[in-house]
Amino acid sequence: MIPIVVTPYERRYLQRVRDLIFHSELVHSHLDWQETDQWLDTQSVPMRCAWQRGRLVGVMGVSSPLNRTCWLRLAAIHHQSDHSRVLRALWEDLVIELRSRYVQTVALLAVRDWIVRYVPVLGFRYVEDIITLARNGAELPETLPNRLVIRAAQPEDLDELARVDNAAFEPPWQLSPDELRQAVRISASCTVGLLDDMMVGYQLSTLYFDGAHLARLAVIPSVQGLGLGGALLADGLQRFFRRGIYGMTLNTQSSNRRSRRLYERYGFAPNGYDLPYWVITL
Ligand SMILES: CC(C)(COP(=O)(O)OP(=O)(O)OC[C@H]1O[C@@H](n2cnc3c(N)ncnc32)[C@H](O)[C@@H]1OP(=O)(O)O)[C@@H](O)C(=O)NCCC(=O)NCCS
Repeated sequence: MIPIVVTPYERRYLQRVRDLIFHSELVHSHLDWQETDQWLDTQSVPMRCAWQRGRLVGVMGVSSPLNRTCWLRLAAIHHQSDHSRVLRALWEDLVIELRSRYVQTVALLAVRDWIVRYVPVLGFRYVEDIITLARNGAELPETLPNRLVIRAAQPEDLDELARVDNAAFEPPWQLSPDELRQAVRISASCTVGLLDDMMVGYQLSTLYFDGAHLARLAVIPSVQGLGLGGALLADGLQRFFRRGIYGMTLNTQSSNRRSRRLYERYGFAPNGYDLPYWVITL
């Protein structure tokens, strides 16, 4: 058996990692705000390379930990290698660093099927599906009467956005200020909701060739259930209607009852594009 040597990722391996990702079909790349290539170029996060006789056979890295949680950001395996052995070697080495950084949970959104075959042996457990909902057309229900003032987000809102985001979402769904900056940069619409000048919610949507995608909708817990999420959603949709865009998709956890009720009221229905969500507790 050819031994597998695992080393930390170094910038001088960048081109080899790029080549591996380009040529292999066994690539897992987390859906986030940066292209993998851009992420590789800038990151200083826990990441490992696996080598056999000097040839790069695998790479694995996680997103920047936030609240002791991170995503399996990248995993790629050379097709002519013992996939399971390479993945295990990478993971076992990576976990040492994750523990030393006090990471407790690593999450995985399985965008490609192949990785699901291997993660149970690494100790990941399936939690639930992340479902996609879609709607079309200009019909909207009445929003509940509310005092929410909605305006476009400004660059100086970033810290407040992060506060609202982190109060509304649990890890691993929270975004760091850096991720939020990136998200706002590529968004087509980002609006914030204010009650008495205090930011209590926001929505962020991106634009695709065939419509808009609501990437984030958040309202702080103390004022949830008062129609503010609905108001932000309706306003966000109307902003797209004015640009002639009537289709919108979004993702949510299948167990997120409150968000699902809200989205169904606003005409969203599942379109069958579901992604399994897995976690491991270290
Ligand atoms: C999901 C979330 C954004 C909803 O925001 P919200 O302000 O609580 O939502 P709303 O108040 O507009 O809607 C919820 C309630 O208001 C009422 N309501 C809202 N709009 C209404 C309307 N047009 N007509 C009648 N009732 C309405 C309903 O009673 C509803 O109650 P229900 O949950 O029992 O169905 C918020 O709960 C949140 O931030 N959650 C955490 C983050 C998250 O999960 N985000 C979504 C996943 S991406």
